[in-house]
Amino acid sequence: MNICVFASGGGSNFRAILEARRDNFLNSGIKLLITNNSNCGAVLIAKEFGVDVFHISRKVYPDLPGDEYGKIFLEKLGDYNINLIALAGYMKAVEPAVVKAYTNRILNIHPALLPSFGGKGMYGINVHKAVIQSGVKVSGLTIHLVDEEYDRGRILFQKSVNVEENDDEYTLQKKILQFEHKYYPFIIKKIEEGEIGLDE
Ligand code: GRF
Repeated sequence: MNICVFASGGGSNFRAILEARRDNFLNSGIKLLITNNSNCGAVLIAKEFGVDVFHISRKVYPDLPGDEYGKIFLEKLGDYNINLIALAGYMKAVEPAVVKAYTNRILNIHPALLPSFGGKGMYGINVHKAVIQSGVKVSGLTIHLVDEEYDRGRILFQKSVNVEENDDEYTLQKKILQFEHKYYPFIIKKIEEGEIGLDE
């Protein structure tokens, strides 16, 4: 597969995927990073690993109609023959034209057990804060397909992580992130091997 990662932040999941490729755990090529934030950590990681970066943001194209804005993504993805997109801390909604063209070919990782603690506003530390405030004893991570609705696509994998008495949002985030780094490459490998079917 030819993979494109979409990221906006620190990029630690992006790094985990690149390291899995470097160590030949993954066979797919990580061909491109798409980001809306040219100053983010993920861009530095792309440079470190020699991965091309495409920066695109609504700020650059404020007046372009939605479908034409979506086309810019599609052309770039086409240039790199991308057949799998992995969102890794991408803070924007994926353009509808891209969701349509890549039906069942866009993965996301979410740091909680969906459908709980997902949806609008549930990103970054907010997720873990809400988990701690709710008093639940179990959180975790979800890897799912992306469709038109936020955090609602078919769930491919979940891993639960206990919320301990002394956890706060930061310790919980750290614990879950470590599992994300392990399981995101692991699930991509299962997709490569056909053990997880995306079209089922
Ligand atoms: C991760 O917690 C991921 O689950 C969520 O955003 C965070 C990205 O972290 N979607 P990083 O940029 O990969 O370090």
